[in-house]
Amino acid sequence: MPTRPYVIEPMISAKAIAARVEALAREIHDEFAGTDKLIVVGLLRGSFVFIADLVRELDLPVEVDFIEASSYGNAMESSREVRILKDLRGEIQGRDVLVVEDIVDTGHTLRHVVGLLKARGPRKLRTIALLDKPSRREVDISADWIGFEIPDEFVVGYGIDFAQRNRNLDHIGKVRFTGEEG
Ligand code: IMP
Ligand code: MG
Repeated sequence: MPTRPYVIEPMISAKAIAARVEALAREIHDEFAGTDKLIVVGLLRGSFVFIADLVRELDLPVEVDFIEASSYGNAMESSREVRILKDLRGEIQGRDVLVVEDIVDTGHTLRHVVGLLKARGPRKLRTIALLDKPSRREVDISADWIGFEIPDEFVVGYGIDFAQRNRNLDHIGKVRFTGEEG
């Protein structure tokens, strides 16, 4: 994994995340109270820790499914192409769906996934993202719930990676490069 040397500086503590997840779960509970049709859909891979903590705070009958998307920059058209690498296992028609994302950055991924899933006719579809970088947005979309709004920093931990590493950090940290490549 050739990469420039870097350090990870703490940004959001495990304790702060846990408190926020608990508060978010209460709001989600109120939004979906009484339903027996809820499917929580995690976007792989970055949401896997968040979704695990979130569903354990949710006192509702819940199913869990996953979808994996990847987005590629297209420098020529200054656009991004989002591809589905792994689709849901289950049907969502007539169901209540909560899409769980790690970070909303440019917004292309979430917009694409929401469009795709809405076309399948869910009864209700809501979105939640642990982190939001509004200053990076390229398309007009926002999640219904946000854990934390953050500045334009590259972050890792709590499921979120840099070159596939650091997903296992229990908190969110920002990457600071300390030298040159090589
Ligand atoms: P978007 O389509 O630009 O909103 O891309 C969102 C995806 O980019 C997230 O799901 C992350 O996988 C990735 N991403 C965006 N910002 C960061 C970051 O700071 N650290 C790690 N991954 C990031
Ligand atoms: Mg992602």
